[in-house]
Amino acid sequence: MAVTSLRRKLTFGAALCLLLIPGHRPLEQALPYAEAIRTPPEDVEGLRTQTVTVTTDHSQVSYRYPTLGGGHPLTVQARTLMAQRQTAFLERLPQKGTPELHQDVTILAASPRVLGARLTATTSTGRDQDLDSSTLWYDADSDRVLPWTSLFRDEEAIAQAHLALARTLGEGYDMPARRLPGLIGEVALGHPPQAEDAPSPDTASESGPDLADPERAREAARRWAGSPLEDVAFSTDAGLAVRMDPSHVPEAGRVTEVLVPVDPEDTEPLLSELGRKARDAALAGNDTDDLPTSGEPGSPGRTLDCARLKCVALTFDDGPGEHTDDLLDVLAEYDAHATFYVLGSMVTEFPATVERMATEGHELGNHTWKHDDLAEMTGEEVEEDLARTDEAVREVTGSDPPTIRPPYGSLNATVRRSVDRPLILWDVDTMDWQSREAEDISEHALAQTSPGSVVLLHDIHQTSVQAVPAVLAGLHRQGYHFVTVTDVFAGAALEPGEVYTDARPS
Ligand code: NI
Repeated sequence: MAVTSLRRKLTFGAALCLLLIPGHRPLEQALPYAEAIRTPPEDVEGLRTQTVTVTTDHSQVSYRYPTLGGGHPLTVQARTLMAQRQTAFLERLPQKGTPELHQDVTILAASPRVLGARLTATTSTGRDQDLDSSTLWYDADSDRVLPWTSLFRDEEAIAQAHLALARTLGEGYDMPARRLPGLIGEVALGHPPQAEDAPSPDTASESGPDLADPERAREAARRWAGSPLEDVAFSTDAGLAVRMDPSHVPEAGRVTEVLVPVDPEDTEPLLSELGRKARDAALAGNDTDDLPTSGEPGSPGRTLDCARLKCVALTFDDGPGEHTDDLLDVLAEYDAHATFYVLGSMVTEFPATVERMATEGHELGNHTWKHDDLAEMTGEEVEEDLARTDEAVREVTGSDPPTIRPPYGSLNATVRRSVDRPLILWDVDTMDWQSREAEDISEHALAQTSPGSVVLLHDIHQTSVQAVPAVLAGLHRQGYHFVTVTDVFAGAALEPGEVYTDARPS
């Protein structure tokens, strides 16, 4: 193994501390400090990321997440966690200065069998800056995203890791046992967190429950919440690098982070099979050209889970039209994805606009060829009209619209029997075709929207397009994420011929 050639190095941060406090500690007694293997995503071959940045007069938020192909569990989990945090930040936005929230990802392990990702969230309001970090581990064998606890053999191993940290802090940093922070102190004093119910014999072996089981790993993560191991990485010498808050280890001096080592020989017996896979990937430099992606890395598909998020689907009917490109510009500023219920006859008029919709991640819906009332047609006529519209869309985007919206919301039993896809109506009608006042339209949308709403607008009216900036700004401020109709229903099976108005929790 190449392990022996990798030596733990004193990082710049620890070196700086020694310079700042001359005489505090002789240089030859350097503090134990791990070098974490954290690979920027751009250095992992074949890994793509997506960055979302929204700047308004009250705040700036951004996040970058890995895109591993449509619906990949790690992409969905990472992005959903980031979106949830963004909502929480905006809902409790400080009223002074220009608060910022920046979320990012680095790669801790990458191989065909495992992907480890470190998520960081940096919140700043003026001079105060706060960092929160966590890790996610994707196991390709089970196609699941697991918490940090799954890197360990069992909970006894997790307790052992805390004891190893306690020893290093005690011996290396001269921290007295009573000052050991949080769970490290509790374990060192012989009080590890206990399961609420004693494990029954059939769920536990002698060494405790198997953390390869996702439910048990998550349970253990809840029990060990607040552990510094929530931000664990592998170190260049094949041990662990555990990030600790400098305020918990004042002995480390003025550093931005303290990476406490767990030695390789102490680490080895604690790791689970997933943990060893992840360690080997990290030590190999996260150098792989065969990532466990699903589909094409850049392919569209669900990238967030609206069942756990504040989502809204903005829908635009009857276009495209001459104002639609302006609308697409505005949507892009908020990374908003919308759904366009287009008329087949208009698709052929504005093919470039339709192509742009698809390229920019919006969804196309079928709104018939030229807005005829489907309820006045025979079944055969309904099928022909929708098929002709599908074909126009398919010719530009390469795929059929996944949902249908009947003009005027008009439908009957014949229509429902004749369609092979779900029929999508709306729960928020902005009445924009009638009022033609941008301010009325946006006020109406803001007042009526709730999580899971489907909002009806028309991009053929200039006043409607002019209302959208205020709608986006207002809903963004409330913590909403703007998603397609397919996404707002959070992957629920929508039945052909069934009618849906919204995805609000019942
Ligand atoms: Ni219409």
